[in-house]
Amino acid sequence: PVPNVQAISDASKNCTEIPEKYVRPEMSESLVQNGAAGPGDFPIIDLSRLHQDSEEEIAKLGAACEDWGFFMLINHGVPDEVINKMRGAITKFFSLPLEEKKVYAQRPGTVEGYGQTFVISEEQKLDWGDMYFLSTRPVAGRNMKLWPTNPPTFRDALHEYCEELQKVGTFLLESVEKSLKLTTLMDNHKDGLQAIRVNYYPPCPQASKVLGISPHSDAVSLTVLLQVNDVQGLQIRKDGAWFPIKPIPGAFIVNVGDIIEIMSNGKYKSIEHRAVVDTERERLSLATFFSPGVKGRVGPLPEILEKNEARYKTFSMEEYIKMLFSFKLEGKNILDHMKLPHA
Ligand code: SIN
Ligand code: FE2
Repeated sequence: PVPNVQAISDASKNCTEIPEKYVRPEMSESLVQNGAAGPGDFPIIDLSRLHQDSEEEIAKLGAACEDWGFFMLINHGVPDEVINKMRGAITKFFSLPLEEKKVYAQRPGTVEGYGQTFVISEEQKLDWGDMYFLSTRPVAGRNMKLWPTNPPTFRDALHEYCEELQKVGTFLLESVEKSLKLTTLMDNHKDGLQAIRVNYYPPCPQASKVLGISPHSDAVSLTVLLQVNDVQGLQIRKDGAWFPIKPIPGAFIVNVGDIIEIMSNGKYKSIEHRAVVDTERERLSLATFFSPGVKGRVGPLPEILEKNEARYKTFSMEEYIKMLFSFKLEGKNILDHMKLPHA
């Protein structure tokens, strides 16, 4: 079992030593680009313009998915009350005593609940962060035993947030399909899966030597990220360096996941990202993941294959999910596995 990082952080408040397992030698060499990205050098997509069927905005979306694999989403239409209620509930939950949070701890061999990411080996370095993962759609598949009842607003807040995010996610996927000039992407997203992950990064006295979350790409179709408080930490890999993302207040950060890269046969990119932590302040983020439904297929869309050679294998969603879990346990890269040798 991986130790609770919030507890380690509390214990290290008055000293500078942290357990060796969290110290990453590569951090001293990793190149971070100067100046956080902001308006002007990072794509900003206006959802209200996509709703107006603006061809210019669709083209911008396509370019963002191709060149960056990431963009900021403004005018998304999710009411402030819904977002703030969710923020409040999450912040409150993570401030509860450890014993109360542990009621919702992940059970061995499962991913849902409160806990830490998988560890594969004894030697492996650990992430300076705790998390909470829940499957939220299909609604019938929710494991309500793992939905916190404290604070009392949590369940309501999450349910409302997930309803709003479903609208955003579905519409974004439809827009992605449009930008690819395809018509079969949405067929594979019927009764699509939705899940959330709250990331909690406690302060670290040696923040520059640790990682809140190790470099990875998301194994889903799309991710919509909410900054829960105003501490930044997300970095994306761009031209061999790490590029810090500075979100516009109120905007979401969206990224293309492995499945869209595969469905678009490599046109759109699922980009590696990581999170760094702060010395003084905790950081909280909330990721909402969208994936095909269990009846969907993960592979280059047939329309693309009429003109291009497949660069990725095709799996049924059931096969893909099975592989996902076995690979997670072994720390293998899913995209590498899906790529065909000649690609
Ligand atoms: C994630 O990739 O799930 C975490 C991103 C973040 O905390 O900014
Ligand atoms: Fe991620």
